[in-house]
Amino acid sequence: MTARIIDGKVVASRVHAEVAVGVAEYKVKHGTVPGLTVVLIGDDPASHSYVKGKELACEKVGIATETIRREASITQEELLEIVDGLNNDPRVNGILVQLPLPNHLNEDVVIHAIDPMKDVDGLHPENAGLLILGKPRFAPATPLGVQRMLVEENVDMNGAKVVIVGRSKLVGMPLMALLLQKGIGANSTVTVCHTGTKDMAAETRRADVLIAAAGFPGTVTSDMVKPGAVVIDVGVSRVEDSTRKRGYRLTGDVDFQEVSEVASAITPVPGGVGPMTISMLLVNVLLAANLATSN
Ligand SMILES: NC(=O)c1ccc[n+]([C@@H]2O[C@H](COP(=O)([O-])OP(=O)(O)OC[C@H]3O[C@@H](n4cnc5c(N)ncnc54)[C@H](OP(=O)(O)O)[C@@H]3O)[C@@H](O)[C@H]2O)c1
Repeated sequence: MTARIIDGKVVASRVHAEVAVGVAEYKVKHGTVPGLTVVLIGDDPASHSYVKGKELACEKVGIATETIRREASITQEELLEIVDGLNNDPRVNGILVQLPLPNHLNEDVVIHAIDPMKDVDGLHPENAGLLILGKPRFAPATPLGVQRMLVEENVDMNGAKVVIVGRSKLVGMPLMALLLQKGIGANSTVTVCHTGTKDMAAETRRADVLIAAAGFPGTVTSDMVKPGAVVIDVGVSRVEDSTRKRGYRLTGDVDFQEVSEVASAITPVPGGVGPMTISMLLVNVLLAANLATSN
């Protein structure tokens, strides 16, 4: 079997088009456009490149975007003051503090300080709690993107055996919560694996839908995949590659070549989940703007 390649860019462009329509409608109704402010601390090259991608995507769909850039030496108090200012700025519908933060800053304290109604990353405990309770407001963009991709690809998630490798608060946990719920693109039986899982291959081989979010290349090999399974690769790692001008290439957690021979459908890295993450962030910003004006 040679797997169908799920093209994240194609699915993402459909979502972008929907958001652009939603933004245009919002503008007609309110005379203004939704606004996202990103707070970027330090000079991590990957974070700068992610933020650039977010800025460009916002511009394309008509969302107003601003990035507040500060040196890595910023104090916790200074950062909290910035967040407080954004919480109180009515032009700002969504606040995104780009992670990871430098070590001296406490990520949890900063995330908890964001107004939950502007928490478009879905990481505030109020939003994480609502998701677990089956009443999602803002879910993190990457799990939303994975779910949207599965829906767009007509993968039957109802009663499907899903195995997720990884239990982070950003990917694995919220994805588990999304796919467990009743409803379209969900109602699945979900198993979550982590570094404490015994005989992980026995778990993953049961999966109709296998989702890898461990962050290590080679985590999923072909012997771990049930023939005909749908495989979604969330992982993104930089591996040295002297043939590339920039000296590295991006790779996922899944051994793409060999798993493509076993799976029925698979996402590539890059060009799979990555584009979906940005598009679902746009969905969350539009939602935040609509919620802010719905009272
Ligand atoms: N494409 C995108 O838009 C996007 C967005 C977000 C993240 N990512 C990528 O997705 C990957 C995961 O991100 P994250 O933020 O969730 O990472 P993370 O916080 O480091 O979490 C990784 C999870 O994977 C588990 N894990 C690691 N190695 C494992 C192994 N060999 N077997 C079983 N479980 C293992 C860890 O288990 P323990 O809990 O036991 O340590 C942990 O729960 C990274 O490569 C990241 O760059 C991509």
